[in-house]
Amino acid sequence: MEDETAESAVAARWLRFAEVEGDLRSPRYADWARGLAADDALLARLAPLTRIEQQPNLVLSAMRFAGVDPLLPWREAQAVVHERWDAIEACVRSRRTQTNEARRLATLLPAFASLPQPIAIVEVGASMGLCLQPTHWSYAFATSAGERLVGDPSASRLTTRLAGGAEPRMPDVTWSAGLDLHPLSAASDDDVRWLETLIWPVGDGEPDRGRLERLHAAVAIAREHGPVVHEGDLVHDTSTLVEAARGRAATTVVFHTAVLAYVDAAGREAFARTMRDGDAVWISNEGLGVLPAVREQLDALDARPDAADFCVAIDEHPFALADAHGRWVRVLER
Ligand SMILES: C[S@@+](CC[C@H](N)C(=O)[O-])C[C@H]1O[C@@H](n2cnc3c(N)ncnc32)[C@H](O)[C@@H]1O
Repeated sequence: MEDETAESAVAARWLRFAEVEGDLRSPRYADWARGLAADDALLARLAPLTRIEQQPNLVLSAMRFAGVDPLLPWREAQAVVHERWDAIEACVRSRRTQTNEARRLATLLPAFASLPQPIAIVEVGASMGLCLQPTHWSYAFATSAGERLVGDPSASRLTTRLAGGAEPRMPDVTWSAGLDLHPLSAASDDDVRWLETLIWPVGDGEPDRGRLERLHAAVAIAREHGPVVHEGDLVHDTSTLVEAARGRAATTVVFHTAVLAYVDAAGREAFARTMRDGDAVWISNEGLGVLPAVREQLDALDARPDAADFCVAIDEHPFALADAHGRWVRVLER
């Protein structure tokens, strides 16, 4: 069998990334990925790295973190990438894919609001903790009956489409804490810049202004209110935070969004056992294949998700379908 880290295998994965993700979401990234896949010298530098370090999403962000301008087509960017490779590789080795998208909160809000209030929230895989601050936002839900505004209208706003008849309202959050293998800090300009470079450029390398504005609003909230994110592994350390939350609210919620895909199968199963054995409510917002029990029930519901959708589930029961970045949420009939 071919060595997984051989140059040709790396090139094949980068070409697949260009076709499956880049062409759809970021033509500039597709251009750079195809260029890199044809560059023998760069493939030789990538080949000895771990599979995670070779991920296009991570390496492309590292290129931009090292100052390669996404407006440059590959034929112009290539020389800069060669010149700065040492800095790019150092970034790839020290940083991870930790995209923190506050709008995912808008798709979680109906699930939070469906529980006995007040709630204490524990987020595992919290990154910078930008999804740990639900009550500091206002929400504009576009529904078939018109716009529903939730929260203080003067607060920064998350806008999303809501279907499925749920009446959105603000949860009453009395306590919150997060957990991450590598917490990022809103106080660190470098960490904020890393989150900026994890947002893919659109078109021919233009910044995705909507996502950047939202990130900056979320960082401003975090700088003011300081979400607490502890260093730890969700497989081993979730129970400690659940204990810390005990007695602080009517309901303790453990939630995660876009996290379990980064945890191996044994770790996911161990975490699922912890959640099933404990008394906290478990809210997951993950891609469709990530929790098999959720997937099976979704199939039985005939909810007709698209492959790229996320499912919000409460205690492994599907509650809503959602866009991966929070553009829309559809609460399911139950
Ligand atoms: C793609 S980010 C998502 C961040 C945030 N939940 C959001 O939706 O914006 C995934 C995060 O999960 C964290 N993570 C991955 N495996 C973990 C583990 N075993 N324990 C704790 N955090 C983990 C990563 O460090 C990263 O910050």
